Amino acid sequence: MTLIINEPLKIERIAIAIANLPQSLQGKKIVQFSDLHYDGIRLSEHLLAEAIDLSNQENPDLVVLTGDFVTDDPSPIENLALRLKRLTAKTGLYACLGNHDYCRRYPNSQQQITDALTAVEIQVLWNEIAYPWGQDLALVGLADFWSREFQPELVFNQIAPEIPRIVLSHNPDSAEILKPWRVDLQLSGHTHGGQFVIPGYGAAPILLQQIRKATPKSISKHIPFLRECYRVVKYWQWSEGWHQVGNNQLYVNRGLGTYAPGRLFCPPEMTVITLESRE
Ligand SMILES: [Fe+2]
Repeated sequence: MTLIINEPLKIERIAIAIANLPQSLQGKKIVQFSDLHYDGIRLSEHLLAEAIDLSNQENPDLVVLTGDFVTDDPSPIENLALRLKRLTAKTGLYACLGNHDYCRRYPNSQQQITDALTAVEIQVLWNEIAYPWGQDLALVGLADFWSREFQPELVFNQIAPEIPRIVLSHNPDSAEILKPWRVDLQLSGHTHGGQFVIPGYGAAPILLQQIRKATPKSISKHIPFLRECYRVVKYWQWSEGWHQVGNNQLYVNRGLGTYAPGRLFCPPEMTVITLESRE
């Protein structure tokens, strides 16, 4: 049995200003979840049920889920989908997939996960565009950044430049690549917030990266934590919360699931986003 030390779920509330936001979309509410890792170890039934109840209480317009529904083995997705079926949203539920949702060891996993979510009316966007509120705002879901199919140009070329767009992209490192395009709000996850946060400093992996830079490679390559600190993401400074990246806005959710040994000052998250018009 794996012991995981967890913290209570925290709701983060943010207002996002978007240029050219139609009057009719002002005040629309989006709930974001990420990184459920529903595999019997990393997410408890209690936390999942609580998250679904809290989301429904918000009476959101949209619910978006930004990937890593399982941890490689896709078989728990059927049970997860049964639980996610309880999620409600006035206009719709949408998802992008994460790096754990397509796995070479399980060649059908991407299809199996997409089918299970689609069956409970969660629309999976893989380099696709949806218009939940009509043509005035695009909701883009990109293929995972580590997949061979991450091709933002194919998607963004289909949207007129004056149309605001919200982009679901599991890995926040993709924000760097997306800088040439208009992205009014990118919603990501993947980092779990670093899981360990040093109060007043930030995610512990930011510190590990600093130590790695100051340590000769001949030494750091023998220290697993230092060797691997770039494996999850390059930009650990974007491991949680809101960031301006070029002209674009990025928000990174800390996720619901937790890898062992657990979280410290980094609670699992439900994000409640309210759209505002930018003057
Ligand atoms: Fe991930």
